[in-house]
Amino acid sequence: MPQSKAYDQAIGHLLAFRPDVVDSTGQAMAADPDDIMARALRAYLGLMSSERGDAMSAWRYIQPLSGRNDQEARHLAAIRAWVEGDWHAASRILDEQLAEHPADFMALAVGHQLDFFLGEAGNLRDRVGRSLIHLDPGHPARGYLKGMEAFGLEESGDYAAAEAAGLEALDLNSDDVWANHAVAHVMEMQGRVADGIAFLDARKPHWSGDNLLNIHTSWHRAIFALEGETPTEALALFDEVMGGPDALAAALPMVDGTSLLWRLHLDGVDVGGRWGAMADAWAEKDTSPWYVFNDLHALLALIGAERMEAARALVARQEDLIRTQGTTGTNPLAVASAGLAVARGLLAFGERDFAAAVTHLAPVRHQLSIFGGSHAQRDVFQRTLVVAAVRSGQSALARNLCNERLSLRPTSVWAGLRLTEVGA
Ligand SMILES: [Fe+2]
Repeated sequence: MPQSKAYDQAIGHLLAFRPDVVDSTGQAMAADPDDIMARALRAYLGLMSSERGDAMSAWRYIQPLSGRNDQEARHLAAIRAWVEGDWHAASRILDEQLAEHPADFMALAVGHQLDFFLGEAGNLRDRVGRSLIHLDPGHPARGYLKGMEAFGLEESGDYAAAEAAGLEALDLNSDDVWANHAVAHVMEMQGRVADGIAFLDARKPHWSGDNLLNIHTSWHRAIFALEGETPTEALALFDEVMGGPDALAAALPMVDGTSLLWRLHLDGVDVGGRWGAMADAWAEKDTSPWYVFNDLHALLALIGAERMEAARALVARQEDLIRTQGTTGTNPLAVASAGLAVARGLLAFGERDFAAAVTHLAPVRHQLSIFGGSHAQRDVFQRTLVVAAVRSGQSALARNLCNERLSLRPTSVWAGLRLTEVGA
């Protein structure tokens, strides 16, 4: 079924991470109220915010509908599965759709974000690869697919191929913020701090404008600053970008801001009243468990703001979730597999029981991908374990963890500093 021009424009905005995707999707729905693909896109936009409230609002767009063909039926089924808490089923249905329609860019872009939320690095790479192979080399969307592939390759550890794919994507679309971000990830994972700073600063006009990744890219710039031992610069970026009202309104940028503050906190930097504002922002959100990756960041903010009663209540909600739902559903499975252990570890860290923090965090440190996010984002929990090992006097463990980091990134200043703290 041919789609309207308005729908095609919305998909273009989706691939380019343009915030006007919301308006253009609305225009596509207005142009054709029976356009199920447009209504599905609107529902996906809510789901991709990763917030429970937005996810529930997805019903509003699709509730009475049934698909008039396999494509529409699959999208409606994927949305229903996701809203009902089975993110894995949504991901599988989108793969089935892509097997039939490899150039369904809504299925591809949404599936790519689902792979990210689910921490499934292999499919983050391969879902894109399977579609790319069908695409005409001159297709206008090819660059955006290369940018997606770059991120999947990076999360899969194939850094050379990731950087090449990301730079190819940027040659095709210099404002491709997802490809730009993938290249920054490569430099982060390889410990190329000077390269990362130079790359992001030189390309700043291309990523810092009106797009859905500007705050997150600023976070990447800030963590390069931290590794480059310029915490004042990182704090300035927080104040300029991550502490602003737009960033404190949505969970995904709040994850970035919280993660930066916690890294500064681990490094002994006093971030002052910033924790209070961040904890207030998290308190505005629906606190029912929906995506534990976000909940863990909310917990960091509560601990940072020394709101320990609220922090304990958040951990208790995760325990209740497992008690009542077991491992049925994607989020309960993530909580049971690693999320709850991390939450207990962070809480122990906040209570200055660093030995208990190690006891909770160490056994799950290789399982963190189950609750999603990127390697770079999950590193906030790995760093917490390192600091807990140092502060609890577990020198052998601390040395091992630091040496592990140095074996992957020999130039890591942060790991080197922690090693000197345990007398290595
Ligand atoms: Fe990132």
